[in-house]
Amino acid sequence: MRPIENRKFVLASHNKGKLAEFAGLLAPFGYEVLSVAELGLPEPEETGTEFEQNAYIKAHAAATATGLPALSDDSGMCADALGGAPGVYTADWATQPDGSRDFGIAMEKVERLLREKGALAPQQRRARFVAVLCLCFPDGKAEFYRGEVEGHLVWPPRGELGFGYDPVFQPDGYERTFGEMTAEEKHGWKPGDTHALSHRARAFQKFAQARLGVR
Ligand code: IMP
Repeated sequence: MRPIENRKFVLASHNKGKLAEFAGLLAPFGYEVLSVAELGLPEPEETGTEFEQNAYIKAHAAATATGLPALSDDSGMCADALGGAPGVYTADWATQPDGSRDFGIAMEKVERLLREKGALAPQQRRARFVAVLCLCFPDGKAEFYRGEVEGHLVWPPRGELGFGYDPVFQPDGYERTFGEMTAEEKHGWKPGDTHALSHRARAFQKFAQARLGVR
């Protein structure tokens, strides 16, 4: 397996919520981590219809622009009653005409569509968060790590923590939404643990096992 030379790579994300979560997940490992946001690199257009495709587009763009290995995350929320939507379009559902993102409006849209389907009981509101991490090298070689977490969508939103759709997602086995959990609780994982909770932590755990020497 090709090494990550000089313990240095770039995070291919402009999303502050994701970058903060990655900073926390990566903190124990002693890597130098830059982000495309701080380097002022543009966001490539995400034209894929699968999480893996968009993760590759982002990581490949960052790796070729910097000459460093790049780690991206493409993620989203998939609601069963909506045929898996918004899925890869999760961020797009929050995009406003002026280009800004409003996740309150996006959560209201999901709720309106669920009500139109008559999905009011928790078992009719099943959903999962998916995260696909892509580690891509400047020559285009890439590897993928996928994590998922199952739960249901609540209304009204609860909690001020986290980001995106966290306030409406209650993972199975918990009484609180991701928006009511600290980052530590939401990830449920640190090196040495066998259990991870969030989709991103589950994907990151696989990456850490393959790449960072974690068992
Ligand atoms: P993308 O991967 O940049 O296309 O954006 C994925 C979108 O999914 C984000 O903008 C969030 O709205 C949502 N999302 C992904 N992961 C999470 C999470 O951990 N909590 C809440 N929302 C998330």
